[in-house]
Amino acid sequence: MTTTENPSNEAFDLVDYANDPERIGEISMWNPDVSSLVHAVEDNCDAIFTWGYDKGERKPLDKLYEKAKTSQWNGQTDLDWSIEVDLEALMANSVRDPMEVQYFEENPDSPLRNFSEKEWSQLGMESFNWSLSQFMHGEQGALLCTAKIVESVPWIDAKYYAATQVVDEARHVEVFAQYLDTKLGGIGYPVNHHLGLLLDDIINDSRWDITYLGMQIMVEGLALAAFGFMHQTTQEPLLKKLLRYVMSDEARHVAFGVLSLKEVYEDMTHAELRERQEFAFEAALRMRDRFMRQEVWHRMGVDTEEMVKFQLDMPDELRVFQRMLFSKIVPNCKKLGLLDAGDGWLRDRFTDIGVIQFEDWVDTSEEFLELDEVAKDREAAEAN
Ligand SMILES: [Fe+2]
Ligand SMILES: [Fe+2]
Repeated sequence: MTTTENPSNEAFDLVDYANDPERIGEISMWNPDVSSLVHAVEDNCDAIFTWGYDKGERKPLDKLYEKAKTSQWNGQTDLDWSIEVDLEALMANSVRDPMEVQYFEENPDSPLRNFSEKEWSQLGMESFNWSLSQFMHGEQGALLCTAKIVESVPWIDAKYYAATQVVDEARHVEVFAQYLDTKLGGIGYPVNHHLGLLLDDIINDSRWDITYLGMQIMVEGLALAAFGFMHQTTQEPLLKKLLRYVMSDEARHVAFGVLSLKEVYEDMTHAELRERQEFAFEAALRMRDRFMRQEVWHRMGVDTEEMVKFQLDMPDELRVFQRMLFSKIVPNCKKLGLLDAGDGWLRDRFTDIGVIQFEDWVDTSEEFLELDEVAKDREAAEAN
């Protein structure tokens, strides 16, 4: 790894940051830390006991808990790890956004314009490994966050459900790590700088509902859309099934966030809701920045600032994939009342970054039933 200096990260104004082309330095930061094994974050939340043991007091959460218990799967026995992954075929049936590939290859201003065939093929492999590495790190974020929810949420039905999610997230970390390790030559990348900052912020916060908002609504909402895109575009059978099963769980997790927070946000003041709107938007910006693959550019010797600027300049009509990442987040924020609370600050911000058009797409409070691929496979097996 070269020792090029990483730009500093100053506190930023959310509204300016969304549109300010001068902030390239911050957006182009990458994670230079490839050697440390642990990372400690202060967790400022109180652990809460509840003496109210009435199971089913919150019926939708109880229903989710019962569903979670019967939809468990085993990453070691329900996936066929004997499948040989043909990396060339995997890359040929591109798992990348075709519009972006075309923009990178054909635009005369592209920093990649002099890439050789070999470099293009390396870029495909690096990007794929980077994407799955980030999925895996995000899954560990979810593992820690849901353990925190078990501790901090005051309702017994939510503690029960969150406990099942801890198991789900352990399984997700396990299967992504195993896929990277056994099929892609190893875990190639540390956590992306911007994803890492977001995970730290969520763990660090003392308000228990912020763990839900940051993880269940924002990070997992985006993951559900990103896994869906990769599941549709890949033909590799092991990865396809792995993603189908992970998505079954993720849909439940996002539903858990929506169903829990709806109750909490109904009783909040405008000032409290505004703090949540700002947190949600800051998370949205971090996630937009996290998809720019800064670590890949740095490793491949491409000027990271130049590449980030080039990506930010991508014409709107080509940004279909980047926008689709918000297709679950925006309707769920609307369902929670966060879009229009107060003076509609979050609606304005989502309009600024071009994702407001998803507001009336299906929210995830019931979608988990449709996405339960584990149950569908079991029914099909029983019918045979
Ligand atoms: Fe997960
Ligand atoms: Fe999850």
